[in-house]
Amino acid sequence: MHRVDDVPMRSAGSTSTEPPLSHSEPWWRSAVFYQVYPKSFADGNGDGLGDLIGLRDRLDYLQQLGVDALWLSPFYTSPGADGGYDVADPTDVDPIFGTIADFDALVAAAHARGIRVTIDLVPNHFSNQHPWFREAFAAEPGSRERARFIFRDGQGPRGDLPPNNWPSVFGGPAWTRVPDGQWYLHLFAAEQPDLDWSTPEVAAEFERILRFWLDRGTDGFRVDVAHGMAKATGLPDIAASTLAKINDADHMRPSDDPRWDQDEVHEYLRAFRRVLDSYPGDRMAVGEVWASGGHRLARYVRPDELHLAFSFQLVEVAWSANEFRAAIEDAMQTMPAVGAPCAWVLSNHDIDRHVSRFGGGTVGTARGRAAALLQLALPGAVYLYNGDELGLPNVDDLPDSVLQDPAWDRTGHTVRGRDGERVPLPWDGDTPPFGFSSSAATWLPLPASWQPLTVARQLDEVDSTLSLYRRALDYRAKSSTLHGNDFSWIGSPDDTLAFRRGEDFVVVVNFGGGPAPKPPGQVVLASGPLDGDGTLPANTTVWMREEKAAMDRSAGTSIRDQMTSG
Ligand code: GLC
Repeated sequence: MHRVDDVPMRSAGSTSTEPPLSHSEPWWRSAVFYQVYPKSFADGNGDGLGDLIGLRDRLDYLQQLGVDALWLSPFYTSPGADGGYDVADPTDVDPIFGTIADFDALVAAAHARGIRVTIDLVPNHFSNQHPWFREAFAAEPGSRERARFIFRDGQGPRGDLPPNNWPSVFGGPAWTRVPDGQWYLHLFAAEQPDLDWSTPEVAAEFERILRFWLDRGTDGFRVDVAHGMAKATGLPDIAASTLAKINDADHMRPSDDPRWDQDEVHEYLRAFRRVLDSYPGDRMAVGEVWASGGHRLARYVRPDELHLAFSFQLVEVAWSANEFRAAIEDAMQTMPAVGAPCAWVLSNHDIDRHVSRFGGGTVGTARGRAAALLQLALPGAVYLYNGDELGLPNVDDLPDSVLQDPAWDRTGHTVRGRDGERVPLPWDGDTPPFGFSSSAATWLPLPASWQPLTVARQLDEVDSTLSLYRRALDYRAKSSTLHGNDFSWIGSPDDTLAFRRGEDFVVVVNFGGGPAPKPPGQVVLASGPLDGDGTLPANTTVWMREEKAAMDRSAGTSIRDQMTSG
């Protein structure tokens, strides 16, 4: 067995004649970000939950993997009603994750390894245990305390009907009644009351929060539910036809939903940008924005707003060349128009892991690897979710008794929620919890079937998914072509996609069930074994450098011709 360290990497250093990287562009435009779900990454204190010390202890792994920056999901003081997205103190660390000193040590250790640290910012709502909400709960209707949230009188003669017909994202109504008869709005769980951003005190408080973390050396933020911070004036009912589309899981984002994507949100995001710009060192923000199409998304990354917004297009497609192409085009035709790069996502803590979305098992794994090489070759920034690099699937058979997602209770135990993509990472050993924790009682159980997927096992295997990611990230880090913006489609047979980056870097993805023709050229990296007969196997992506002869030919013919003429 070789450790991957011993395997010669087919990297820009060894196979290309590319010019050295220029550093004139801000780092975030083509960075590889790695999302850490802190509860699931690594447990440093043996309580069965991941924490900041556990993360710090594993930074060498992330450095070897080759990521540029981390995004940490919330580690703030929280009752944990929504996995920490219910924040009770946004400027402190929850004891389950450690202390502020642990955070400072983490930032220092990451920076020492050349890794930037970005963190979640949750501006749409606080926890109902935040002092502001406790005060609002105890205060009078119409008071300053209530004006920080969205309190309204109910409908009906006794006011016992909610103020409007808005549903919560997690099921049930988006309103909860307080003892004096008023209702408060929560687009998510009842424990997550929405803030009223038209109240200036709210913006001032978030400026304080931003500065608190920027002063500690934080490199940027992921802005949670950025499209939700402003609601339509007057909080009008959602039209019945729109409500029907929202209830149909396939059409979750109709453009006339008064809960989301209102114009005022851009004013609030500009205020964030002004704070970020007042700090040295290219601090940045990426928005979680679920918009109805790339043209709406692009409005969030205009030059004085967020730096990036997740290009979620790739999480919404089936394993199909046509769907992938349409998704990539939607993103690439809209973001550059405002000068922003795309920020490609395949998985995160809210979405079924892509290995499972693409079919699971051996096929899902092959497709997941092919999708990874596609993602990592697109122009722009890339977001990886912890475990992507191990090819982890979702765990869909968690016992009901361990489920923690608020959707499970709010839907009367019909929607199981997102715990299946939040199962802790397997590090080493032959039995659960695979080195994640010294305690067997982990917050979610790791399946015994993950034994071949541990980091230690995959580091030892040249062809593992982890080795593939390491090679791809190594190549990408050194490639000025992949850091650039040059991109053009190349004609290719049905069920395949092919594109060129720069002069001679070609990517071909075979979405089909059988072999496809492979253009001539030098293979840089392939997501799976190549047959050696000049074809590209099913569910495989290949990175290639076109041969000079092929490039000359391509002046007159398309790669489709080259690929189909064999
Ligand atoms: C975002 C988070 C998700 C959370 C929700 C409410 O969508 O990614 O995990 O439940 O916001 O904060």
